Amino acid sequence: EKQGFRHFMLKEIYEQPGVVRAFLEAYLDAADVINLGLPESLCKDVENIQIVACGTSWHASLVGKYLLEQVAGIPTSVQYSSEFRYAPPPLTANTLIIGVTQSGETADTLAALTMEKERRIGKSPAYQPRLLAITNRLDSSIASVAGQVIDTHAGIEIGVAATKTFIAQLLAFYLLALDLGARRQTLSEERLEEIVTGLRQLPAQIELILESQERYIQELTHQFTETQDFIFVGRGINFPIALEGALKLKEISYIHAEGYPAGELKHGPIALLDAKVPVVAIAMPGSVYEKAISNAQEAKARDSRLIGVVQMDDAHAEEIFDDLIPLPAVDELLSPILTAIPMQLLAYHIAARRGLDVDQPRNLAKSVTVE
Ligand code: M6R
Repeated sequence: EKQGFRHFMLKEIYEQPGVVRAFLEAYLDAADVINLGLPESLCKDVENIQIVACGTSWHASLVGKYLLEQVAGIPTSVQYSSEFRYAPPPLTANTLIIGVTQSGETADTLAALTMEKERRIGKSPAYQPRLLAITNRLDSSIASVAGQVIDTHAGIEIGVAATKTFIAQLLAFYLLALDLGARRQTLSEERLEEIVTGLRQLPAQIELILESQERYIQELTHQFTETQDFIFVGRGINFPIALEGALKLKEISYIHAEGYPAGELKHGPIALLDAKVPVVAIAMPGSVYEKAISNAQEAKARDSRLIGVVQMDDAHAEEIFDDLIPLPAVDELLSPILTAIPMQLLAYHIAARRGLDVDQPRNLAKSVTVE
C-alpha cells in the first residue's frame, strides 16, 4: 500500500529514517557495541577485500571501499559483477569477498560470487573461502551461497529505483568498516564514539531534510522541464553519490545524466557544459571541500546552472551556487547518507513532473535475474 503517497518510491524515501533506526537497533547495542554476528574466522587476517555488485549496489560498494580502506585500513577493490565474471583478478591469500545485492537474486552478482567460491575451493579443497553477502533478503540465493550475511533490514522495496535499500547498504558498510577497524585497532576509541554518535543522529537529520527540502526541490524542478542532460559531481566519499544521483535520474526520468569525480571535469566532460546543462555539485565540508568548490566554479564559468548540495551554515556557498540544497552539519565520513536524499528527491520530482511511471520505469525490472 502507498499509504497516501503518490508513488512507492516517495513512500520508500520517507521510510528511510525508520530504516536507519531499525538497522542500528539490529546491530548496535545500547553500549554502542557493534554486533554484525561475523565470526573471527571471516575477519581475522583479511589482507584485502573484493566486492562485486551491480547498479546502485555497486555505488554503495564504492562508498564501502572508501570506508574499508580509510577506516579499517584494508585494500579493497570493487568490480561490476558482469565484468568480474569474465576477468577475475589473480587469486590472493586471505581475501574477503563481498557480494552486495538488495534482491539477493541478481544473476551476475550471484554468478560472480559462486565462481569466486569455486575458484578458491578448487585451489585447495581444505581452504574455506571468506564470503559475505550484504542483502535485503535473508531468504535469497546470495545468502545461501555466501553463508555469512549482513541483512540490511530495509523491508521490501517496490519502486524499481533503489532508495531505502541503498541507504541500508551504506549502513552495512559503515558498521562493517567500524567492526573490522575495531578488531584491527585502526581507529581510536574517541573516533569510534564520534562516528557512532553521528550514526545515531542520522534518522532525525534525514527527517529534517525531508521536512525542509522536499517542497523546495519540487519547486526547483520547474526549471528543468526541457532539460536533456545533467551532470552530477562529487569528490572523495561523495563521488559515488554523484554516480547514484545520475543513475536515479536516468532510470526514472529518462534524462541523460552523468556522474563524475569533480576533479575529472576538466579532463573532458567540461566540454559538454553550457547554459542548457545543469550541474549538481556535492560540496559538504571536509577534506575535499575547497577542491569541490573550485571545480564548481569551473562549471559556473561555462554558464551551467549550479545546484549545490551543501551544509546549512555555508555562507560562502551562496555566492557560487544558483540554487542551494542545504543539509544539516554532519561528519564528512557520514555525509553520503544525507547527500543521497536530495539526489533521490530531485530524480523523483523531475520524473513525477514529467508524468512518468516512477515506480515501474520503462525497460527496467526490479530484479535482474538474467545475465
Ligand atoms: O538487487 P540488486 O541490488 O543486485 O540490483 C542491482 C541493480 O540492478 C539495481 O541496483 C538497479 O541499478 C536499480 N534499479 C537502481 O535503482
